[in-house]
Amino acid sequence: MTMTTYENILTAKEAVPGLAGINIGVVTLNRPKALNALCHDLMNELVDALTDFDKDDSIRVIVLTGSERAFAAGADIKEMSDETTVSIMSKDRFATWDRIRNIKKPIIAAISGYALGGGCELTMMCDIIIASESAQFGQPEISIGVIPGAGGTQRLTRAVGKYRAMELILTGRPFTANEALEMGLVNKVVPTELFLDEAKSMAYQISQKSPLALQLAKEAVLKSYDGTLSEGLQFERKNFYMLFSSEDQKEGMKAFIEKRKATFTGK
Ligand code: CAA
Repeated sequence: MTMTTYENILTAKEAVPGLAGINIGVVTLNRPKALNALCHDLMNELVDALTDFDKDDSIRVIVLTGSERAFAAGADIKEMSDETTVSIMSKDRFATWDRIRNIKKPIIAAISGYALGGGCELTMMCDIIIASESAQFGQPEISIGVIPGAGGTQRLTRAVGKYRAMELILTGRPFTANEALEMGLVNKVVPTELFLDEAKSMAYQISQKSPLALQLAKEAVLKSYDGTLSEGLQFERKNFYMLFSSEDQKEGMKAFIEKRKATFTGK
């Protein structure tokens, strides 16, 4: 398969030691000037790359990562700040994200630095999460006058329970890798210089297994977890889009761009 060149991500196929002809697929978010903020183009590229790896018979497991400083600092606020409810609904920005749910191969997230907002939500769309000790998670959307819009209210709640999710989403406070581990949100915390190696080593281990069994195991685990997730996501998206009618959304995003503290009025 020819490897496509992307602008906002890097992709690589890496041989699994001891398994001739078998690879892992590594996708690296690579938009450093915006701390890997998940703009529409980046998300399209990411979904295309994941879909290509999913179709590639030589690949058993996918590793998704960013840089040491940032996995992703969220959806792109600059891209969203002028949206209205009508415009954001008609673009249906997060529809691209839904396609990640169709990836059949296991995806291991290797997270270091910021995994905030959409970055935390993208992490939670993966199947296993390896974090560096310097990883910083959070759903800070409330501080810019909106709410998580790419699954955070549903997936964080399922992962850590209602009360912890409520606190994290209502305060928007960041939390450390060790706190995430203690809450059951990540599988393992390792020294920063090892986070990618650790994720790859787990990917090699899983690559030894039957690809068909892996696919059906992933599908079954997700089924148990899914429940009414689709309804929840629709609900969340409607609420997210609705906030683009508010002055607080305009003020929150504008204040971020102007590097000042937002003043919210509840309008
Ligand atoms: N969108 C767009 N640009 C972003 C961004 C984002 N989410 N996060 C960072 N950037 C940009 C900054 O604007 C800045 O660009 P300039 O150099 O052009 O000014 C650059 O990345 C570096 O960022 P900072 O100067 O802010 O770096 P810092 O080290 O001082 O702070 C940070 C880092 C704490 C992560 C801070 O950038 C921040 O708070 N980012 C926003 C986090 C956030 O609110 N995320 C949620 C987004 S909304 C969302 O994700 C909705 C959803 O549910 C899908």
